[in-house]
Amino acid sequence: MKKLKFFYILSILLSLNACHPSHEQFKNDASLADLKMPNNHLNFKEIKDYQNYKMIAAHYRTDKNEIRYILGNKKAFEAAKNKAPFPDGSKIVKIGWTVEKMPDFQTALEAKQLKRIEYMIKSRKEFSKNPGNWGYARFVKENGQFEPWQKGTQSCINCHNLVKKNDFIFTKFQTLQ
Ligand code: HEC
Repeated sequence: MKKLKFFYILSILLSLNACHPSHEQFKNDASLADLKMPNNHLNFKEIKDYQNYKMIAAHYRTDKNEIRYILGNKKAFEAAKNKAPFPDGSKIVKIGWTVEKMPDFQTALEAKQLKRIEYMIKSRKEFSKNPGNWGYARFVKENGQFEPWQKGTQSCINCHNLVKKNDFIFTKFQTLQ
């Protein structure tokens, strides 16, 4: 049974990666709110064109029961694909969704609610003091509204330090073939 569950989660992730998120899923976020992170002032609008970013990978976090899409702007996508260093201006976006059982196929899960949009942006100038020169921002969605993450970004930095050897990025480029 465990094996089956794993298989279905895997097939969801693969199908998510194969097709772009539908317009329907994103329609509420077409114009992003003017929101800033409390400590570094990164704005949600910094990634205003994220719907055109390319999929780098899809993850499933078992403790949070969330599907995550990892998208990159052109610079980040190309660097991830070519296993090259991320240049200044790289933007990596993570979108988290809760999941629920598909009503017509109970062992399959599908995305339910968008919970978070977060990003990392590389800037030697703006984030000269941060490890890897990455700036972090997280916007969480509660009751249909996005809010900046009030706890700031030190915890982001601390945890991403685990993957210092990979330029502080957990994601590996997920090949489509
Ligand atoms: C306790 C550990 C932890 C903390 C704290 C954390 N992250 Fe992450 N982050 C991860 C892990 C693990 C992944 C990869 C799995 C996933 O997609 O959830 C990840 C992935 C990401 C990615 C995609 C790029 C990558 O590194 O793979 C972004 C963007 C991101 N996090 C932003 C943030 C921001 C912004 C914060 C703070 C508000 C934050 N993270 C805090 C563990 C953490």
